[in-house]
Amino acid sequence: MSSLDDFARGKLEDLDQRSLRRRLVTTERTTDGRAFRASPQGGRRQLVSFCCNDYLNLSQHADVKKAAIAAVSRFGAGAGASRHVTGNHPLYEELETRLARFKETEAAVVFGSGYLVNLGVVPTLAGRRDLLLVDELAHACLHGGAQLAGGEMVVYRHNDMNHVREVLEERRARHRHALILTDGVFSMDGDLAPLQALTALAEQYDAWLMTDDAHGFGIMGDGRGSTMAAARRSEGPVHVPLQMGTLSKAVGSYGGYLCASRSVVDFVKTRARTLIYTTGLPPSALAASLAALDIIERDGAWRDKPLAHARLFAELVSLPAPESPIVPVILGHTERALDASALLEERGFLVTAIRPPSVPEGTARLRFTFTSAHGESDIRRLAHIVRSEILPKAAA
Ligand SMILES: Cc1ncc(COP(=O)(O)O)c(C=O)c1O
Repeated sequence: MSSLDDFARGKLEDLDQRSLRRRLVTTERTTDGRAFRASPQGGRRQLVSFCCNDYLNLSQHADVKKAAIAAVSRFGAGAGASRHVTGNHPLYEELETRLARFKETEAAVVFGSGYLVNLGVVPTLAGRRDLLLVDELAHACLHGGAQLAGGEMVVYRHNDMNHVREVLEERRARHRHALILTDGVFSMDGDLAPLQALTALAEQYDAWLMTDDAHGFGIMGDGRGSTMAAARRSEGPVHVPLQMGTLSKAVGSYGGYLCASRSVVDFVKTRARTLIYTTGLPPSALAASLAALDIIERDGAWRDKPLAHARLFAELVSLPAPESPIVPVILGHTERALDASALLEERGFLVTAIRPPSVPEGTARLRFTFTSAHGESDIRRLAHIVRSEILPKAAA
């Protein structure tokens, strides 16, 4: 056996022992929020999925699919090279104009994915002389972007504005620029960042505020995302000059965006390595995003359903009212989360267990995500099982 295989096997054994090994399970999503999943006993079974970020089920919408198919027929399956090399597809221009208009910013730039936005934008705007403050529960790719920037990185306690203030007070003067990085909607907990308080601190200390709105865009603030929602809720100003998000969740397609001022977007387009040194998105993904935006802009009732469904579930299970369509049930030990997920699968539901390092040690959980496509009877059935079979064991 080579030392390379030795290394990989040793790592796998260690992960197996700690129940932390992840395995890909063949799963085929259907058009109505269900999924056919390979069963450990062989064959496959149909499950109702409560772990999908396709919040509005737009990946399955007839108009979205039609737009993607038309783009494949007209333009082909792939982009061929980087946007800077083969030339910028006209659908990019259309999508970026559309995103900026919808988000009410001067400009937008579309990347290959949300992950690539954060890995590209943060190191473009910040370097060794800068201070980066990152919420401890912000998504892995915001942490990754901050690490790549190479400046002084401080991970602040989740949503703790006193901690942010302390760090800025103590260290801001020693750095050229400061960047505050947070999720708008936290992906594993579903809670929101205090954007008004962060705006005030950013202004006071001349820091640049960036939100990752992967889970807010398309749903909150009339679909415009968590910044718009916070602006409506808050009494003071909410100003987020750097708003990123994904086109892969509520939009149902693929890609990521940054909405910002014209000068920031132009600078990012010429410097971000994850935009320059990677192939452009397939035109079908751009066309699908455009068609999905049409639906998001016009159909408020559909947009409101994920949160309404999450609230119904939380009420039935006696959990606090959620602020987003993400509802965590924290079970603690990894094995508990795995057992609870297996039990739900036996009862016909797909809810994957979330384990470290996706969440902090000792907080393994079930993470329920609610979509517009869910039926009330499925939500009630799910809530009954969680209340009667999962929560009593969690408390034991
Ligand atoms: C908060 C957050 N940011 C960024 C991403 C990455 O986006 P994408 O899937 O488009 O790469 C995700 C999830 O995938 C996420 O949950």
